[in-house]
Amino acid sequence: MIIRRMTNADIPFAAEIEKKCFVHPWSEQSIESELIRGKSVFLMAFDDEIPIGYVGLSTVLDEGYMGNLAVIEAYRQRGMGKALMKELIRECKAMDLAFVTLEVRASNTPAIKLYEALGFVQVGCRKNYYKEPLEDGLLLTLNFK
Ligand SMILES: CC(C)(COP(=O)(O)OP(=O)(O)OC[C@H]1O[C@@H](n2cnc3c(N)ncnc32)[C@H](O)[C@@H]1OP(=O)(O)O)[C@@H](O)C(=O)NCCC(=O)NCCS
Repeated sequence: MIIRRMTNADIPFAAEIEKKCFVHPWSEQSIESELIRGKSVFLMAFDDEIPIGYVGLSTVLDEGYMGNLAVIEAYRQRGMGKALMKELIRECKAMDLAFVTLEVRASNTPAIKLYEALGFVQVGCRKNYYKEPLEDGLLLTLNFK
């Protein structure tokens, strides 16, 4: 398995992963608009050329905002999500970001456990942030400074 920076040619793969993993998937257009923004970091994981997961981060000044992290179901619980996050964190440090922050559904135990294992801490809760099903969004942050 390898992890590398996403290019424009990978956008349809990311949109496919989105459809498989989320009730409200990002479209190709929304992924593209984030990818082409200044200092974004989009990473994709491949198993023998098959795209199996991806993660995306946008930045504003020295702040990192993580959009989606997803690994397709057949490849979960094999360390891929953690590997994508570790690589993303390495990139964030190389860009000298002050922190990276994200939102996660309050019931999403696999994701919350993963983020906490990497040092993210809960800094807020957005009431009823998610729809279908209606659910709070936890705001998690990893500080670098
Ligand atoms: C969250 C997600 C990316 C994790 O990917 P993954 O490749 O399965 O995760 P990993 O195998 O790297 O697991 C890393 C850690 O996450 C936690 N974890 C992963 N799956 C878990 C599960 N089903 N239950 C509890 N903890 C879990 C564990 O702490 C695990 O560490 P461990 O293996 O040492 O116990 C994956 O479940 C996914 O794509 N889910 C759907 C999309 C989603 O919810 N994305 C997050 C949006 S904020």
